[in-house]
Amino acid sequence: MRVTAQANLRDLAAHGIDPARLPEHVAIIMDGNGRWAQRRGLNRLYGHRRGKTSVRAIVQLSRKLGIRYLSLYAFSTENWGRPTDEVSGLMRLLKHYLTTELERMMKDRVRLMVIGNPRKLPKDVQQALRHSVEQTRHNDGLTVILALSYSAREEIASAMRAIARRVKRGDLEPEDIGEDTIAQSLGTAGIPDPDLLIRTSGEVRLSNFLLWQVAYTEIYITETLWPDFRERDFLEALREFQSRERRFGGVPEAPADQGRLRAAH
Ligand code: IPE
Ligand code: IPE
Ligand code: MG
Repeated sequence: MRVTAQANLRDLAAHGIDPARLPEHVAIIMDGNGRWAQRRGLNRLYGHRRGKTSVRAIVQLSRKLGIRYLSLYAFSTENWGRPTDEVSGLMRLLKHYLTTELERMMKDRVRLMVIGNPRKLPKDVQQALRHSVEQTRHNDGLTVILALSYSAREEIASAMRAIARRVKRGDLEPEDIGEDTIAQSLGTAGIPDPDLLIRTSGEVRLSNFLLWQVAYTEIYITETLWPDFRERDFLEALREFQSRERRFGGVPEAPADQGRLRAAH
């Protein structure tokens, strides 16, 4: 049976998902577009184009489920090193996505944010991005965080530069620099760390994505290539997330019975 977004909402329990324990922030490394196309003897750009449909599906479902933040790794700093026709094709797709989705984002109250270094993007893409971010800034539904021309190490370096400037101005004492000072100087300032990180296409690495923020994130890797990743796959990731025990360095929770036994002694 094909799982539709509408059916998912009604049938979360049937999928073994507790609507009360959904992650607040899901981050996705959307990988495998090139392989999807190559396996069909197509140009890699067909994979990127088809990947856009997956983005649309996952944004819609996240919104319907009431997930607050969805971070999407769309283009890394390192991706600039790809052949120029792939890079320019990706930029065209991005601009097309932004222009065609804006109306829907407004209707769905989706807020768009960007992390990374958009100044490196072509001028028309920068303009489309600025417009979408500006138009959607007061929307109070799902926040979609697009990582574009993004490098986590560069994000941390940039935070360090900002902090150093504050120290130099005399606004901050080095002793007062804590984890929070750093977190609030990153592109993701004010956004809770991801609870769940999904990577498609089977690679088991972070590829310079949100290195600071994923300290205690649950990681889910699937062999499914991003252009094939749809509602059913997202729900499976959520189900797996809910089966994990997050300890944050603590000890496993004692089952209720054991707790009672201990109390009785
Ligand atoms: C992810 O798919 C999209 C981007 C990095 C822009 P890839 O293009 O990396 O696809 P594979 O990994 O080569 O299959
Ligand atoms: C990570 O995928 C970047 C994005 C998904 C945008 P890559 O395909 O660039 O990563 P590597 O090269 O496999 O590490
Ligand atoms: Mg890849």
